Amino acid sequence: MTRECVSAFKQGGVVALAALLGQLASGDSAIAAGDRALGEYLSSECVTCHQLSGRYQGIPPIVGWPEQSFIEIMDEYRAKRRSNPVMQTIAGKFSTDEIAALAAYFGSLKAKN
Ligand code: HEC
Repeated sequence: MTRECVSAFKQGGVVALAALLGQLASGDSAIAAGDRALGEYLSSECVTCHQLSGRYQGIPPIVGWPEQSFIEIMDEYRAKRRSNPVMQTIAGKFSTDEIAALAAYFGSLKAKN
């Protein structure tokens, strides 16, 4: 290899590595659990009914749950295995990622009793 070849190879290698790292980083965020900031944004609709304080006021509280349980329940509404028509409609509007985001956000809150 000539000197030029070597330096061109090195440069190409760095670029490829940077691209790979970029991919890994973005791949990570896709795999990671729900996006809490997105969940907070989406939650504005929920908290017109569900109390953020975690108090029961005719409508069950949904804060502080394990994320997996929250996702399962939302899936049950989406699949209409749970019968509440209001929640069926609401749950049906969200994508799987959005529900994971809501689960991350509400799960991170503590009920204040
Ligand atoms: C119009 C009022 C209203 C809105 C808005 C609403 N909910 Fe609900 N939600 C209810 C009611 C009423 C129930 C109880 C239904 C039942 O008995 O199955 C419920 C139940 C739930 C449950 C199950 C609670 C339990 O203890 O079983 C979850 C989880 C839930 N809602 C999440 C959400 C999320 C997330 C949002 C926002 C995207 C939302 N809800 C928006 C009225 C609402």
